[in-house]
Amino acid sequence: MLRLPGLIDPHVHMREPGAVHKEDWSSGTQAALAGGFTVVLAMPNTQPPVIDTPTLHHALELASQKARCDYAQYLGAGPDNALSAPALAAHSAGLKMYLDQTYGPLRLDDMTLWMEHFANWPAKMPIAAHAEGRSMAAVILMAQLFDRPVHIAHVSRREEIVLIRAAKEKGLKVSCEVSPHHLFLNKNDLAALPGGLGEVRPHLAMLEDQQALWENLAYIDCFATDHAPHTLAEKDSPNPPPGFPGLETALPLLLTAAHAGRLGMEDIISRCYTNPRRIFDLPEQPETWVEIDPDAAWDIHASKTFTRSAWTPFEGQPVRGRVIRVILREQIVYQDGQVLGQPGYGQNLRPPVL
Ligand code: DOR
Ligand code: ZN
Repeated sequence: MLRLPGLIDPHVHMREPGAVHKEDWSSGTQAALAGGFTVVLAMPNTQPPVIDTPTLHHALELASQKARCDYAQYLGAGPDNALSAPALAAHSAGLKMYLDQTYGPLRLDDMTLWMEHFANWPAKMPIAAHAEGRSMAAVILMAQLFDRPVHIAHVSRREEIVLIRAAKEKGLKVSCEVSPHHLFLNKNDLAALPGGLGEVRPHLAMLEDQQALWENLAYIDCFATDHAPHTLAEKDSPNPPPGFPGLETALPLLLTAAHAGRLGMEDIISRCYTNPRRIFDLPEQPETWVEIDPDAAWDIHASKTFTRSAWTPFEGQPVRGRVIRVILREQIVYQDGQVLGQPGYGQNLRPPVL
């Protein structure tokens, strides 16, 4: 048995408010605990999106009633909230900027809107950007113009990690995360994910891109699931929404890679705990840890998961390493396949909105 710290996932979609048939704060945090995560940072592309005081208040109210693990809620950068959002900065996980094709209406194309947000959002509070390819280069430039850090979400391609590497070598204030599906899948896996199942943003990339992520592991600060639950019926529809559930498969996949010698246990701890805690300035969770059996062999099956999305792109995949028990603030919140943490046990890691 091995003990890990309570893991932090800086990128999850809880779907509440607005789409609780996909996930809600209760089912999503069940999935988190089953996956070894005791902190989730929730994305703002809900319905309605979280962009101002009433919507942030509403999302946090739902979370306080239903979350089973600790959390913070991102605020979304919209076309009209650059001046009002900063007053909510301390109460949010950070500002999320959608600068490329995504799910939901929160996309900013005009770079002068990006500039308004960069000029006003407090430099000490995180900005996370969904920015691919050349938008990534642009947002890294913009962060430097405003002399503040930027965190790049779900890096997936060779040209992106090479750019981030070059930026870090120059001392620029950029951090990044990679999602397990970009580390463990590529376009060749789409054959096994028919129809809309394989839809995800950023898209699954080429084998060369996947390999470049592994070769540049040293420049990857965080592993983030981008847990983006949609139902099978939605994924099978003519206009399938992009996104994969990931909370319950991330750690087993990473432990399997560790078992194969592709990375060390310390690589997992730094990217799922130490670095996200530093980048997002999260408090320590006292008396909190995850017990794993690093040798347990099992196969991933969606039927055994807690996420309401009820499918996984890793169906049937053999893995080594299993979460046995999760302790959160002295309480056993997960044990042997059962979530024991109750709705409302989770705490907001930021001060409440008054
Ligand atoms: O695949 C994705 N799904 N990428 C995103 O950027 C958004 C996410 C979602 O919310 O479903
Ligand atoms: Zn996302």
